[in-house]
Amino acid sequence: MIQLDQVTVRFRIPHERIPTFQEYAIRWLQRRGVRYSNFNALNNLSFSVDQGETVGVIGPNGAGKSTLLKVIAQVIRPTQGRVRLRGRVAPLLELGAGFDYEMTGRENVFLNGAVLGFSRRDMARRLDRIVDFSGIGDFIDAPVRTYSSGMVARLGFAVATDVQPEVLIIDEVLAVGDAHFQQKSAARIRKFRQSGSTILVVSHNPASIKALCNRVLWLERGVIRLVGPVEQVMQQYAPDAPSPFSK
Ligand SMILES: Nc1ncnc2c1ncn2[C@@H]1O[C@H](COP(=O)(O)OP(=O)(O)OP(=O)(O)O)[C@@H](O)[C@H]1O
Ligand SMILES: [Mg+2]
Repeated sequence: MIQLDQVTVRFRIPHERIPTFQEYAIRWLQRRGVRYSNFNALNNLSFSVDQGETVGVIGPNGAGKSTLLKVIAQVIRPTQGRVRLRGRVAPLLELGAGFDYEMTGRENVFLNGAVLGFSRRDMARRLDRIVDFSGIGDFIDAPVRTYSSGMVARLGFAVATDVQPEVLIIDEVLAVGDAHFQQKSAARIRKFRQSGSTILVVSHNPASIKALCNRVLWLERGVIRLVGPVEQVMQQYAPDAPSPFSK
C-alpha cells in the first residue's frame, strides 16, 4: 500500500540569521552569500506497509517522524528515492498543518475537503456531521486562530475521517484532545482498522502505540533503529516505562 525505496529528504539549514537586505546586497557583491549546510532528515530509508496494517512511528524529537509522514502524504518530495502509494490518503499532519488560521472553521472544512479531493457540494453534505463529531459548536464560524489546540485537532480529525480513508496518517495531533475526544477518536480508528484501512500513527505515548498498532517503526536520526511487531519494539524502546510524571 505504501512503499518507500531508499528515500532521502535533505534540508538546507541556514547558519546565520537572515541578513537585512543591505547586508545581503553587500554580501552578494562580495560574492559571499549566506552559508548553508545540508542535513538529512531521512537518510536512505526503505520501508513498506501492507494494506490493513496499523504502523506506529516512534523515536526522539527530531528523529524524522513528521518528515516521514510528510513524504508519504506527498506534502514534501524526497530529495532522492521514491515513494509509492495506492489509495486515497487522509493526512493529519502536525497540529494545524492544512489549516488557514485566518479563515473560519467552516471555510477550513471546505479547504481541507478540497485537498482530500471532495467538491464543495460534497463537503456541504458532510458539514453537519463533521461539526457534530468535532464538538466545535458555534466556534465553527470563528477564525481558527481563536481555537484552542484541542479544537484544531478535533476539527482536523473530524474532517480527515469523515469518510473512511484508505490510508490514514496521524501525526501526534490526538494527544492534545481531551479524554472524551481521545476515546471517540480511538474508537473511530479501531473501526477503520477493522474495515481494512491502512494507518500510520506517530505518537510519543507508548500506551497509544500499544493500543492501536500491530507494527512499529523506530526512527533515530533519519534512519531505522528497529522495526517489528509492537510488543518487541516497545519492549526495547520503553520497557514498561512508568510515566515520568508519576510519583
Ligand atoms: N523545513 C525544514 N527545514 C529544515 N530542517 C527541517 C525542516 N523540517 C524538519 N527539519 C529538521 O529535520 C529533522 C527531523 O524533523 P521532524 O519534524 O521530522 O522530527 P520528528 O521526529 O517529527 O520530531 P518531533 O518528535 O519533535 O515531532 C529535525 O532536525 C528538524 O530540525
Ligand atoms: Mg514531529
